[in-house]
Amino acid sequence: MARHLITSALPYINGIKHLGNMVGSMLPADVYSRYLRQRGHDVLYICATDEHGTPAELAAKEQGLPVDVFCAQAHDAQKAVYDGFALAFDYFGRSSSPENREITQHFARRLNENGFIEERAIRQVYSPADGRFLPDRYVEGTCPHCGYDKARGDQCENCTRVLDPTDLINPRSAISGSTDLEVRETKHLFLLQSKLENEVREWVAQHDKDWPQLASSIAHKWLTEGLHDRAITRDLDWGVPVPADTWPELAAEGKVFYVWFDAPIEYIGATKEWADQDPENRDWKSWWYQAEDVRYTEFMAKDNVPFHTVMFPATELGIREPWKMVDYVKAFNWLTYYGGKFSTSQKRGVFTDQALEILPADYWRYFLIANAPESDDSSFTWEHFTATVNKDLADTLGNFVNRVLSFSRKRFGDAVPEGGTPGEAETRLGEQIAELLAEYEGHMETLQFRKAAAALRALWSAGNSYLEEKAPWLEIKTDKDAAALTLRTAMNLIHLYAVVSEPLIPATATAMREAFALTDDTAAWVTAEEAKSLSSVPSGTAFTVPPVLFAKLTDEDLAAYKERFGGAEG
Ligand code: MF3
Ligand code: ZN
Repeated sequence: MARHLITSALPYINGIKHLGNMVGSMLPADVYSRYLRQRGHDVLYICATDEHGTPAELAAKEQGLPVDVFCAQAHDAQKAVYDGFALAFDYFGRSSSPENREITQHFARRLNENGFIEERAIRQVYSPADGRFLPDRYVEGTCPHCGYDKARGDQCENCTRVLDPTDLINPRSAISGSTDLEVRETKHLFLLQSKLENEVREWVAQHDKDWPQLASSIAHKWLTEGLHDRAITRDLDWGVPVPADTWPELAAEGKVFYVWFDAPIEYIGATKEWADQDPENRDWKSWWYQAEDVRYTEFMAKDNVPFHTVMFPATELGIREPWKMVDYVKAFNWLTYYGGKFSTSQKRGVFTDQALEILPADYWRYFLIANAPESDDSSFTWEHFTATVNKDLADTLGNFVNRVLSFSRKRFGDAVPEGGTPGEAETRLGEQIAELLAEYEGHMETLQFRKAAAALRALWSAGNSYLEEKAPWLEIKTDKDAAALTLRTAMNLIHLYAVVSEPLIPATATAMREAFALTDDTAAWVTAEEAKSLSSVPSGTAFTVPPVLFAKLTDEDLAAYKERFGGAEG
């Protein structure tokens, strides 16, 4: 059986993420990891904060903190939110770690030895007032094409034309506003991606059949435009330093690697961090190096696809060492907020920390997975969210659990009732459950999350239909044994729901499972046979009625959410 390596795109250190980020990478990766672990696979789920680059430096400056202190705090703040969302990483690392530095420098040396790195002198904007070179996007000015006066040195937001900072009219520093700018010559390392283009093309072509359409099409679009050599160093204080043994001059000038060079390497770096903090995990390298038995799945939003399907693979191919390359790229479209963009900078939409202030993680986990932007963008609205919670979680699942357990306790006491023999209705139910379970498993295995959520919802619904059909509240009046059979079967459904719902709603799953005092309840999954017979929880098993699993959201709640976050398109 293959081992499963799973990573989700590393969230940038700057700021708490919104729900769109969560559904586009970490949450589905967690659902998939949980599912595979339950099915008995050996899984390693790795993520980390992506900490280098100018935005981190500027955010630290704004808060008056040294950048390393800022990053340490911001990492902990993000980690706390992910714990709140019950993301079960095997390790959540930091790209500024010594491990990542070591591996990044090693990769750069290898690329250099193999002739894929070249030193080139370039002319770059220098700001004496800021005491630094300015990255392209930190030069602002008037667009020569459309006259927009806040165009950035890399691109004009107004007419979308790609720019060079020296194209701008009346350029100024976006950091200090200083217009005293010079162009200075400076040396940088270039990764000769053009030399690797054919190899990358071949490698992508190998995956044409097995990658999902969204990832494949983006990779091909980038390859059509051609792989250009690109600068992989920057003049910044914060980053992985260029190794002095190989490039003494650049190292002395304080050059560091560009954030997009070291960030994907941190997938490996974080795995080593995981090993370094616990000697139990010493075999970390077997997950990455000559790891023929490993299946590697990456999760990300579509803007990250070019880096993971073209750029990072080029780096890996150029190293000429057998490091694991991605097997499957699961990419997501955008989750919108009322059809508009979630925006971190404009604080539009719902942030993950705010979401947890309002409701427990399972409400969000279920809604987001059920509406994951897979084949297209999908829109978050409070109306849709509250309606989904009420219908699927409160009515279909929560109410079923509560109704069955409360009614049984009232009529039969604190143990699963005895009596009755399963008949035609139970056989039909069992077959239906086994079929839906197989459907759910199939969607999980092919990473189709919306469909998986729909199959899970259908499993919950099947319980409701059975209960309505049998109506134990009527049966009890004429045939106590018949009512006992119905309730016992329904309780077995609850236990089955507890097991199979865990990937999506882990806390609720635990509450459902713990309702039953089963000795030795180690069931990790449900076999087709068990689904058909619905008898894992025998009569006589003691149970308790858990508190309401999902609160129904009222019109007042809806109004309050819209008031707080802004409803319609702003
Ligand atoms: N930090 C990037 C973003 O938020 C993603 C980095 S993914 C990795 O878009 F490849 F660099 F790891
Ligand atoms: Zn323009």
